Amino acid sequence: MISKKMNDLLNDQLNFEFYSAYLYLGMAAYAASLGLNGFSGWFKFQTKEEMGHGAKFYEYIQRQGGDIVLGSVASPKQKFTSAAGLFEASLAHERKVTQRIVGLMAAAKKEADYSTESFLLWFLNEQVEEEAQLVDILQKLAIGGKTGNSLLILDGILGQRK
Ligand SMILES: [Fe+2]
Ligand SMILES: [Fe+2]
Repeated sequence: MISKKMNDLLNDQLNFEFYSAYLYLGMAAYAASLGLNGFSGWFKFQTKEEMGHGAKFYEYIQRQGGDIVLGSVASPKQKFTSAAGLFEASLAHERKVTQRIVGLMAAAKKEADYSTESFLLWFLNEQVEEEAQLVDILQKLAIGGKTGNSLLILDGILGQRK
């Protein structure tokens, strides 16, 4: 059982996970347009992960007897100026997601809804991984440079993500 307020907040995050999927799908398209197919594949992988996150919210809301309300998914930013810019935008986005999850946890705690708080813990840990992964990529770009061979090497590495 979850409160109406928590139900609304969780539906909102379900929507935002699909927005994240959409954002990464746009990044995949931009990377592909530059011929960076490794990057493109990496962003498609991100898209699938975000849809998986959305599904987790869906399952949890249902298990708790809540209502699934699907709002429209906003059109994401699709204009980018460089391949490196995709990762900078991704890190900024993931930091925003982390703040959202923290906000949800605080709301759950306030209601003494420890089931939801426990459910959200997985996402909090996932955000640590997401942010660390992007910081790692950005560090590599800072070392090797954001253009030319360094970009091609990184494209090869990220394209191996399974
Ligand atoms: Fe997510
Ligand atoms: Fe994410």
